[in-house]
Amino acid sequence: MSKTLLEATSISHSFDTLLFSDVDFTLLEGQSMAIVGRSGSGKSTLMHIASTFIEPKEGSVKLFGSELYTQSEEQIEQLRRYDLGIVFQSHYLFKGMSVVENINVATMLSGESIDEALLEKLEIQAFMNQKISELSGGQQQRVSIARVLSKKPRIIFADEPTGNLDKATAMIVMDTLMSYVKENKAGLVLVTHDEELSALCDITARLEEKRLIVSHGVTI
Ligand SMILES: Nc1ncnc2c1ncn2[C@@H]1O[C@H](COP(=O)(O)OP(=O)(O)OP(=O)(O)O)[C@@H](O)[C@H]1O
Ligand SMILES: [Mg+2]
Repeated sequence: MSKTLLEATSISHSFDTLLFSDVDFTLLEGQSMAIVGRSGSGKSTLMHIASTFIEPKEGSVKLFGSELYTQSEEQIEQLRRYDLGIVFQSHYLFKGMSVVENINVATMLSGESIDEALLEKLEIQAFMNQKISELSGGQQQRVSIARVLSKKPRIIFADEPTGNLDKATAMIVMDTLMSYVKENKAGLVLVTHDEELSALCDITARLEEKRLIVSHGVTI
């Protein structure tokens, strides 16, 4: 039996107006879930709710079996540091630092070492010593993914991680994320506009008319 990594029950959230209500989903070890939906439907908000950054107006989020939003700031900080890998829609790299320095920050905080095979797979070895400000958008995006995976998280949350990438590079990134999940019994929550990428995930969760419609792919 696969263990449950993440469980969201009856989540509702609103800013000025209701964004979504009665949202339920479960992510098991080794599973990937795509969140799709139109721009403004609340995909990033839902990802932030599931990943410690926004407490929902209603409902429960459980990470690794424990209720999330009743935990202390310290406990939540520990989750962020050791267990969760988050790729934000606008990637937050330290612009004045080099690629290797950016990755080092993550590995030092989590006590892991840099995974050379990962750097090779993401094709970022060639510019390890360059400053982030000198890289293209797509190169920065791949560095963000390397940085997050270097922490060896139990769940990866990635908000449009392939948004700046051409098809071939997007597939490399997707393949890297999917193999990481399978090899490490981790989980992946992927926000994407790309139907082709969402189809590669075990679960597709579509935000539509303020509800989340969850469909499970057929396992071959
Ligand atoms: N902190 C906030 N305060 C007020 N409104 C917000 C906040 N964050 C998001 N919103 C609003 O909530 C709605 C959903 O935003 P969200 O970023 O979750 O959408 P999205 O589905 O990720 O869109 P996109 O595909 O364009 O990234 C938008 O109308 C946005 O303006
Ligand atoms: Mg978004």
